[in-house]
Amino acid sequence: MVNKITVVGAGNVGATCAHEVARMDVCKEVILVDVKDGIPQGKGLDMWQTSSLLDFNTRIVGSTNDYSLTEGSDIVVITAGLPRKPGMSRDDLISINAGIVKEVTENIMKYNENPIIIVVSNPLDVMTYTAFLAAGIKSNRVMGMAGVLDTARYTSFIAEALHTSPRLVQAQLMGGHGDTMVPLPRFTTVAGIPVTELLDEPTLNKIIERTKNGGGEIVQLMGTSAWYAPGLSAAIMVEAIAKDTKAVLPVCASLNGEYGLHDLHLGVPVVLGKNGVEKVIEIDLNKEEKDLLYNSALHVKKIMKVLDDMNMFPQKYGKDTL
Ligand code: NAI
Ligand code: 2OP
Repeated sequence: MVNKITVVGAGNVGATCAHEVARMDVCKEVILVDVKDGIPQGKGLDMWQTSSLLDFNTRIVGSTNDYSLTEGSDIVVITAGLPRKPGMSRDDLISINAGIVKEVTENIMKYNENPIIIVVSNPLDVMTYTAFLAAGIKSNRVMGMAGVLDTARYTSFIAEALHTSPRLVQAQLMGGHGDTMVPLPRFTTVAGIPVTELLDEPTLNKIIERTKNGGGEIVQLMGTSAWYAPGLSAAIMVEAIAKDTKAVLPVCASLNGEYGLHDLHLGVPVVLGKNGVEKVIEIDLNKEEKDLLYNSALHVKKIMKVLDDMNMFPQKYGKDTL
């Protein structure tokens, strides 16, 4: 249990996340911040009115850009920014969302000395890097949400193919949030049985492709991106930190030599606890898996370079090689 959790962006993902966090009863107060007037306050009130129905105590307070209310936040979730429209990739959002994530992080840091920050805004890996540069705090305290969502999509498709309960499917997925994500069938089990014993290769490959395009599939259907699974996925990360559960989750985390990679935030399995990313777990990947991970890292580095070229920060870590 912590004191205060802030969610910035009261749109689809932010509001869903705030409600899920409130329902978990892991903090006294959720502050929901947006640039819009009335929306965070109205959504906060609407959520609070579910408290007796859902049996939770967390108060939800809306704020229009008043960051003084966020003072003393243990955890901050950043969902502010544009979502993609059909035909857009997540990377297309960088020119607008980088400015938003930088500004939001700087505002948070005016009132919070050492928060744990979870970024959700896209392009995820590079927005996490943006928040890290803007926050100026230890790298294990700035992370991104993507792997929990991508893994949830993957496990839901596997459960569907096997006509079994999604609860029985355990998986790890690595890499960036996008086409280069790295689902790992070798580390996927169903009730303890390797998935490779239960599904043939073409079926698994189809599931992997559908997972990679999991966000895009929903954008095509709705004209905007998903929010139920993304909002809950971010809340699950909040819960692990607030309750110090030491959960092992796939998180976009800072790599400082792990997997032979440096100076980037990328999806890897980590231990999440009260100090943020408490450990990066290094799985013994085979050559093919390593190649996929490096390809993903290279893609993230290239988008980091796009951010570097925007000259918003003096530090520059993006490049065309690893
Ligand atoms: P949305 O448009 O419903 O909500 C975004 C909210 O951010 C709006 O209410 C807007 O007023 C607010 N906002 C804009 N600038 C702001 C600022 N400077 N300060 C505070 N609030 C500001 O969008 P949605 O669907 O909630 O998506 C939010 C972001 O999350 C997008 O960038 C989307 O691509 C990303 N996303 C990431 C996922 C992931 O797995 N990492 C999954 C789903 C969405
Ligand atoms: C998603 O995966 C678009 O990143 C967003 O749903």
